[in-house]
Amino acid sequence: MSEHIKKVYSLYAWIYDAFFGKIFEHGRYVAFNMMNVKPNETILEVGVGTGLSLSLYPSESQVMGIDISQELLDKAENKKRYYGLSNVTLYNMDASSMTFANNTFDKVIASHVITVVPDPLKTLNEIKRVCKKDGEIFILNYTGCNNKVISRFEEFISPVRDKMGLGKHFDLDELLKKAHLSIVHERRVNFLDMCRLVKCKNNSVFT
Ligand SMILES: C[S@@+](CC[C@H](N)C(=O)[O-])C[C@H]1O[C@@H](n2cnc3c(N)ncnc32)[C@H](O)[C@@H]1O
Repeated sequence: MSEHIKKVYSLYAWIYDAFFGKIFEHGRYVAFNMMNVKPNETILEVGVGTGLSLSLYPSESQVMGIDISQELLDKAENKKRYYGLSNVTLYNMDASSMTFANNTFDKVIASHVITVVPDPLKTLNEIKRVCKKDGEIFILNYTGCNNKVISRFEEFISPVRDKMGLGKHFDLDELLKKAHLSIVHERRVNFLDMCRLVKCKNNSVFT
């Protein structure tokens, strides 16, 4: 499944910024503000893609970005060079089995990623593992419309969206419950408020 996602995103690489960049721009800025990154904090962007948010982070913070698509990471590397982001390090790594040590990051963000990965719960548990205890986890995702008819239609076309790498229909609250995470702050963002941005505190300690 990850192989399929890799292939799909390598096809999107050349249009990613022009298309997804604009559509999700509002949510990206709101997420960055909600993160309230302070100097010396260590940040992880899971599924960093082409690195659209990388230039926003303060230069005194340490930012790691991971992705499974080398084509998208290459675009992110270009931005890193262009903006001179010496505080950013990028890795080709699978979010469901990261090589980072336990309790590494102060803040972790997964923006439009959790519905794309084959096993969202495994990925969320990995995020908890690498995030420090009492660190903050931010999840931004298209969660669909509140309208029941549209929602049923979205459920119906979910397999097609999944095949296109655009994420499957999912229940964020159910996922967070399974991961034993509770929301401390939340906002609706982007066009028609169709995306949810949630902030959770990591309540687990991994030794
Ligand atoms: C919709 S894009 C979002 C990119 C970026 N976070 C943004 O908001 O623009 C989904 C990203 O997740 C990455 N991805 C999918 N599965 C992954 C996995 N198992 N591990 C790491 N990255 C993954 C894709 O390659 C892609 O860059």
